[in-house]
Amino acid sequence: MKVGPYHIPVLLEPAVAGILTRSDGVYVDVTFGGGGHSAAILERLSEGGHLYSFDQDADALENAQAETFKEHKEQFTFVRSNFRYLRNWMRYYGVGQIDGLMADLGVSSHHFDTEGRGFSFRFNAPLDMRMNQQGGQTAADLVNTADATTLTRIFRFYGELRQANRLADAIVRERAKAEIKTTGQLADILSPLCVREHERKELTKVFQALRIEVNHEMDALQEMLMAAIGLLAPGGRLVVLSYHSIEDRIVKNLMRAGNLEGNVEHDFYGRTNAPLIPIGKPITPSAEEQEANPRSRSAKLRIAMKAEE
Ligand SMILES: C[S@@+](CC[C@H](N)C(=O)[O-])C[C@H]1O[C@@H](n2cnc3c(N)ncnc32)[C@H](O)[C@@H]1O
Repeated sequence: MKVGPYHIPVLLEPAVAGILTRSDGVYVDVTFGGGGHSAAILERLSEGGHLYSFDQDADALENAQAETFKEHKEQFTFVRSNFRYLRNWMRYYGVGQIDGLMADLGVSSHHFDTEGRGFSFRFNAPLDMRMNQQGGQTAADLVNTADATTLTRIFRFYGELRQANRLADAIVRERAKAEIKTTGQLADILSPLCVREHERKELTKVFQALRIEVNHEMDALQEMLMAAIGLLAPGGRLVVLSYHSIEDRIVKNLMRAGNLEGNVEHDFYGRTNAPLIPIGKPITPSAEEQEANPRSRSAKLRIAMKAEE
C-alpha cells in the first residue's frame, strides 16, 4: 500500500537557483527521487545543457519516464545506480567536468509511505529498508546478526540515542527467542525502553539509524562528495540538502575545508587552501513550507562554489 504523492521537493527554488550558473552547462542531480528538482533544472537548461540524474531505487526509474523528461530527452540521462559510483559513470559518459551537482539526501516520502518497504513503524511490514532492493543486507539481517557492540555503535552514531546499549541488548535478548522479521516486532521490543512522551521520536531515530547502516549512507555520501569536488569546474556549484546533523556535519566540513574532519589548511602566505568556497549561510524552509510539507522541517540547504585552481 502507498500513501500520498511520491515526493514533494524541498527548498526547490533556492536549490535550483543555487546550482545553475549557465544554461548550457552540465549538471548532475544524484538523488532523482520523484524528479522534482531534476525537472526544475531541466526546464531552465538551453539546448546545449545536459542533466545526469542518479537514483538507486527502481521505483524512481518510473518517474524518469514522465512527460517532462521525455520532452527533454536530448538533454537528460537517467543513471540507475548508487551515487557513490559518480566518478565512474561520468567517465563512462565522457564527462570530464561538471558545472553543478545537487544532492537531496536520504530517502523520499515514497519510501516512508510505502508499507512494504519497511522504513516506517507506522506500518507492520517486513524489516527491509534497502533503497536498492536488488541486493545487500536488509534491516532484518542486520538486527538478527550484528553483535551488541555493533548495534550500540549504530544507534549511538546514526541515531544519537543515549540509551543505545540498552536498545542493542534488548534486540540481542529478544532475537534469541524469535527472529525479528517485521517493523512491528522491532517497535514492540524497543517501545518499553523509550520515555513515553518521546516514544515516537526515539523509535524514529532507531529506524533512521538502521536505515543509514543498511544503505551505507555515510560512506556513499563521503565518496560522492569527494568525487564531486574533483569533477566540478572552477566556479561550479555544489548544492546539498541534508536532514540530520550527522550528514550535515560531513557536508559542512567538506564545503569549509575540503576534508571530512573540517581542518582548514593554509598555504605559505596564510591563505585558505580549500577546494570549495561556501556561499551564504545554510538555508532552511520557511514556516509556510514546513507547514505545507512537514518532511521539510529538518532540512538544511548548503551551497558552495568550486574555487579557482
Ligand atoms: C530525498 S529523495 C530526493 C527527492 C528529489 N529531490 C525530488 O525532488 O523528488 C532522495 C532520493 O535519493 C535516492 N538515494 C539516496 N541515496 C542514494 C545513493 N547513495 N545513490 C543513489 N540514489 C540515492 C533515494 O532512493 C531517493 O529516491
